Amino acid sequence: MVRIKRWLNIAMTQMTSSEVPTMGRRQFMNLLTFGSLTGVALGALYPVVNYFIPPKAAGSGGGTSAKDALGNSVKATGWLSSHPSGDRSLVQGLKGDPTYLIVEGSDAIGSYGINAICTHLGCVVPWNSGANKFICPCHGSQYDSSGKVVRGPAPLSLALANVSVENDNVFLSQWTETDFRTGEKPWWS
Ligand code: FES
Repeated sequence: MVRIKRWLNIAMTQMTSSEVPTMGRRQFMNLLTFGSLTGVALGALYPVVNYFIPPKAAGSGGGTSAKDALGNSVKATGWLSSHPSGDRSLVQGLKGDPTYLIVEGSDAIGSYGINAICTHLGCVVPWNSGANKFICPCHGSQYDSSGKVVRGPAPLSLALANVSVENDNVFLSQWTETDFRTGEKPWWS
């Protein structure tokens, strides 16, 4: 036992200070090990996490898939078979906003959708087919069939969205063009 202790003392004293790792070097080694392990772990987890994230449906123009009340993607043929000409019914549109699709004739969905959020204080404005207007139940604002404001207190027309159909899927995208109802820049973009 005494011999072993003496041997250890000799070994320790023979070790030069350059052979003992400095704190900086130790920290560097720790960081390197931690970084490598984290990288490997993230690399292994990425495909697993990715598997559980549903793909976001998008049109070729970068639009968002219109969703029905149950959250299913709207199919143009199905929509047209259950909604008559002139119909304005709601879908979930951009950022989940309630948006009216317009049925133009028996085989066409209109190229623009109308955001149903009232520009006064944000109530959802129902379509009144008898009056051929959108009439807000909160304070009585009225909008014509294209969403143009025709009676206050709402200060602005309803926002528009572009509508496109690709492979029977209906997509909505930002309307950045001139507002054809007013001839002005869209207030919402
Ligand atoms: S919220 Fe529509 S009129 Fe006030």
